Amino acid sequence: MKSLMNSKFNGTLKVPGDKSITHRALMFGALAAGTTRIHYPLPSEDTHRTLECMRALGAEVEQKQGEWVVTSPGAAQLHAPAKTLYTGNSGTTTRLLTGLIAGLGLTAEMEGDESIAKRPMDRIQRPLAEMGADISLKDEKYPPIIIRPARLSPISYTMPMASAQVKSAILLAALYTEGTTVIHEPSPSRNHTEIMLEQFGADISAEDGVIRLKGGNALSASDVTVPGDISSAAFPIVLAVLKPGSSITVENVSLNSTRSGILDVLEMMGADVRIEQTSSEGEAIGTVHASHTPNLKGFDISGDIIPRLIDEIPIIALLAAYSTEACTVRDADELRYKETDRIRAVIDELSKFGISFTEYEDGFTVHPGQVSIEENTPVKGYNDHRIIMMLIISSIISDTPIEIDDVSAIDISYPGFMEDLEKLRKEA
Ligand code: S3P
Repeated sequence: MKSLMNSKFNGTLKVPGDKSITHRALMFGALAAGTTRIHYPLPSEDTHRTLECMRALGAEVEQKQGEWVVTSPGAAQLHAPAKTLYTGNSGTTTRLLTGLIAGLGLTAEMEGDESIAKRPMDRIQRPLAEMGADISLKDEKYPPIIIRPARLSPISYTMPMASAQVKSAILLAALYTEGTTVIHEPSPSRNHTEIMLEQFGADISAEDGVIRLKGGNALSASDVTVPGDISSAAFPIVLAVLKPGSSITVENVSLNSTRSGILDVLEMMGADVRIEQTSSEGEAIGTVHASHTPNLKGFDISGDIIPRLIDEIPIIALLAAYSTEACTVRDADELRYKETDRIRAVIDELSKFGISFTEYEDGFTVHPGQVSIEENTPVKGYNDHRIIMMLIISSIISDTPIEIDDVSAIDISYPGFMEDLEKLRKEA
């Protein structure tokens, strides 16, 4: 990390593939008979958990450089896994797979790491049980998850929170029911499942927060090209905006409007960020140029924008610390249920750098002031990839090394993160 101090960051980057899209391509590929080619998938800890689970259900997955090939006998031929499925740190694998397995009427047991063992699964169990699924949880809330065969029926469900994982678990379970499942979303959450299900031939529509899926259509194998993950791109983009002398371009990144809330926040702050959309078919894709901007303005965000930037809030908190005005995030209580309680983690760790917060149950205000890091300050990453990467960026911006307890969780979503930063430094 020391080599990145007292540097500028310049040049062009392609970040690794989108995590959410890679998970879904593996799952839909396993449900569709035939061969699904996934171009530029994200090869990370989390997506490998989904890959291994698809193999355990009977799909073949071949991993080549820049391409994964899923060959499946089709949903009806998939089988119960021989042993407990291990989902590691991945909430997306755990929640979506519960819906998928319940929909297939198979028996399975599923568990993950220490963080997954503390994440609420009753949010998927409730609607799936309403469909008729037989799912048991530890203390009626947590993994291990036990799924037993049951016949499912369609439901009409109003989601209590905006969650793409809950929505997707219901849609996966609804695929093989007779009739139409209707889901009402309180705010638009990421819509990769809807886009990809349509591509794979499902009878699905989404309009004004209402998603309708008619069960019974077999999915057709289809090729998926995975764009770069905006949630990964957020780190070098914020680095460029905050670091004097820096200017970077991120190419081929997802600009899906259900994910691009951070770009709206950068615009509110007056950051020098330019966006060019290169494709709008299915998933929107484009290029983002970001350059150092002094005197950033404040922001006050809540409501519908929150699900559009939920995973970026740790790095947005750092951005806020460099604003000349107060910045507030509300309606983000979902952050308390991520890989760690991200409101707690952000406040506890960034407070060590002299950043002043007011905490709310559903967010925080960052007050303007001087960021000052003492050399080698010990900080905790909570085994949470996005907290760790945010702390690394904060150290680079201050040109002050810090001591993070463990950085290995970066590989959950952004293998090659440090190498990419090094590349941008060399090009400066
Ligand atoms: C994801 C949905 C979001 C997000 C997570 C990935 C997905 O979680 O935070 O990183 O791929 O569906 P929620 O559905 O819990 O909001």
